[in-house]
Amino acid sequence: MTEQTKGSGSDASAMWGGRFSGGPSDIMEEINASIGFDQRFYAQDIRASKAHAEMLGAQNILTQQDVESICQGLDAVYAEIAAGKFTFKRTLEDIHMNVEGRLKELIGEAAGRLHTGRSRNDQVATDFKLWVRDGLDQMDAALRHTQAALIGQAEIHASSAMPGFTHLQIAQPVTLGHHLLAYVEMLGRDRSRLVDCRKRMNECPLGAAALAGTSFPIDRQMTAQALGFDRPSANSLDAVSDRDFALEYLSALGIAAVHLSRLAEEYVLWCSTQFGYARLGDSYSTGSSIMPQKRNPDAAELVRSKAGRVIGSLAALLIVMKGLPLAYSKDMQEDKEPVFDAHDTLMLALAAMAGMLEDTTFNTDRMAADAGKGFATATDLADWLVRVLAMPFRDAHHVTGAVVKLAEDRGLGLEDLSLEDLQSVEPQITAAVFEVLGVENSLKSRISLGGTAPDKVREACAQARLRFLG
Ligand code: ARG
Repeated sequence: MTEQTKGSGSDASAMWGGRFSGGPSDIMEEINASIGFDQRFYAQDIRASKAHAEMLGAQNILTQQDVESICQGLDAVYAEIAAGKFTFKRTLEDIHMNVEGRLKELIGEAAGRLHTGRSRNDQVATDFKLWVRDGLDQMDAALRHTQAALIGQAEIHASSAMPGFTHLQIAQPVTLGHHLLAYVEMLGRDRSRLVDCRKRMNECPLGAAALAGTSFPIDRQMTAQALGFDRPSANSLDAVSDRDFALEYLSALGIAAVHLSRLAEEYVLWCSTQFGYARLGDSYSTGSSIMPQKRNPDAAELVRSKAGRVIGSLAALLIVMKGLPLAYSKDMQEDKEPVFDAHDTLMLALAAMAGMLEDTTFNTDRMAADAGKGFATATDLADWLVRVLAMPFRDAHHVTGAVVKLAEDRGLGLEDLSLEDLQSVEPQITAAVFEVLGVENSLKSRISLGGTAPDKVREACAQARLRFLG
């Protein structure tokens, strides 16, 4: 819990108030403080401080005795926060000064030596990077979980026919499994964006100090290694002012949220009476307070809408960073909330999507019936004319158009026309054409790589398991 009462300002001034005679106003304190949200990375702050202290010891900048008491003290602070027994003080601005302030209460003077050769500027960049790195790993696991739910349904429905759409008009038959695997690919790319982001961000800002480096003989390789970074960042000015890692994370989340919103929108459509393709279980449906018959897919609608919020977070941070001169400016304190919010939002949306997928019954009869509607196998007829009659595709397209018109005038499906009807348009057509006209036949024929033939979809499911869940 954060103490929201106005302090005298003396807590913070004890850290930096040497040249001040008065404390900050209440409003100054409120606008300045980040403890309300940056307490979220206390574990990363303490981890980085311990690595820094140990390095200072190894470089004989601090005595071993000081290092030991600092590290033990930091462990004690960690335990207090983890147990919810720590009182965060707004007067101490942020997590860095709250931890250090408590450390001083616990171990006394040695606490003041921890900040040797570093600044809050490199400290916050390091802590936040460590948090984003952890967040990114959680996000990867959540994306994987949703992929697993998609693959599970895709396996069940590898051969369940449904209409494939373009322009939301029935276009060609596909299988539901194939449709769901499309989202597995999207989420797979989202995960690979996280991998890229992680690789690029994995340079340690610690030791850049305020902006110019430090005169102490610090060992940046040592702290970078201790914190699991690939290397120290090369330029101290860049190190303290770089928030690309947060921006990249938000961009990756924004794209993933867009993917989820598309699937969510399809859910909304599929669950509608008009489509009737899917029924969400009770655990993911809501009722209406006035219309007793209603079953609303609220979770899907919310997942659809959450994309707006995630994209908003990306826009917010891009705008904060735009035009900021080097190096650190307090504007950058505004980097955290959008990242936390986008992270939490997408984690929840992914969990909801996975839950919905696991709790959905698809109406395969209804989908199969629709799959043949709207002359969905017209392309199959055209392809047959090309393959069997060696007709140029453009001519075949034309002939097929005439057949579709005939069927439409008669109120029939393509496969319901007689051979005579078909021959009245193109005399060379034979009875063999009926082998490609039904939905099943159409599906079976789509054997090209990445195509929707049920056998191909079953193979693709197995591949997806290996590629994404292995
Ligand atoms: N709370 C600050 C932030 O989140 C920490 C860095 C403060 N640095 C400074 N020079 N005032 O950005």
